[in-house]
Amino acid sequence: MTSLDFPGWSDAQLARVEQALHRWVPADAPAGLGEAMRYAVLDGGKRARPLLVLAACEAVRGNDQAALRAACAVELIHAYSLVHDDMPCMDNDVLRRGKPTVHVRFGEAQALLAGDALQALAFELLTPGDGSVPEAMQAALCRLLARAAGSGGMAGGQAIDLASVGKPLSEPQLRGMHRLKTGALLQGSVRMGAACAPQGVGEAALAALDDYGAAVGLAFQVVDDILDVTADSAALGKTAGKDAAADKPTYVSLLGLDASRALARELLAQAHRALDASGLPDAGRLRALADLVVQRNR
Ligand code: IPE
Ligand code: IPE
Ligand code: MG
Ligand code: MG
Ligand code: MG
Repeated sequence: MTSLDFPGWSDAQLARVEQALHRWVPADAPAGLGEAMRYAVLDGGKRARPLLVLAACEAVRGNDQAALRAACAVELIHAYSLVHDDMPCMDNDVLRRGKPTVHVRFGEAQALLAGDALQALAFELLTPGDGSVPEAMQAALCRLLARAAGSGGMAGGQAIDLASVGKPLSEPQLRGMHRLKTGALLQGSVRMGAACAPQGVGEAALAALDDYGAAVGLAFQVVDDILDVTADSAALGKTAGKDAAADKPTYVSLLGLDASRALARELLAQAHRALDASGLPDAGRLRALADLVVQRNR
């Protein structure tokens, strides 16, 4: 497979991730909890974060077993964030990944617990006891994921999101919210892939990968804001038009569609420049993933 064969690489990685998630998300958790967890995670989603982990690991020639665990762990955190994001106390959505949301299908208490259990499972996956991942690497991966998911990352961003309903935010405020609620986990995915390098990564390359992750992470939510307005529910697999209906501040509400699209293009150029500056020879897949994030239609 040449480095230019992105579709072939991506199909193969998606199949690995799917198979691993099928194996690792338990069906037999008590009282139907396993069914709710598997419903939340399996058979849906673009798996953008796992692909970022695996591409970053390739770029640094890292430990592939560690990267597969990290890829699944970050997807579990993401899936949990979606389950909770859709609940009536947050965005109150009934459709996700083309199916009824977890709380609609299983009830609110089970949705809450499925999210809790997926979060715990993420850290279990990162800490195998079979010697396949060095313990220092396990600790580094846990630290990165915890920081990306917690109050200084996704959960903090979600708090700002809820506190901002009906409020016009300035561009720096909106950017700050988007960087936390969505950007942190995407940037964290890139960092986790890089943390799979057995001998570490040089400071300059790491800083460049961080710039790349920041640009792709913000671009991801800018495009999510755009698609909420321009795509339909069937294509998205979630209810379109929700942001305006719920009076959420978004890039489209702040800048309009054309300027939001221009921003997404500028962020893509920033991501490309960061990779050029990284000096990493195997960054082609990260480049293609940035293209995919900005040019996606779902
Ligand atoms: C949706 O994420 C929520 C955001 C953080 C913008 P994705 O667009 O990655 O959703 P899936 O995983 O493909 O369903
Ligand atoms: C979600 O942002 C960010 C998360 C951390 C889940 P949105 O609320 O815009 O995501 P969607 O549009 O429901 O997928
Ligand atoms: Mg939300
Ligand atoms: Mg939402
Ligand atoms: Mg959205």
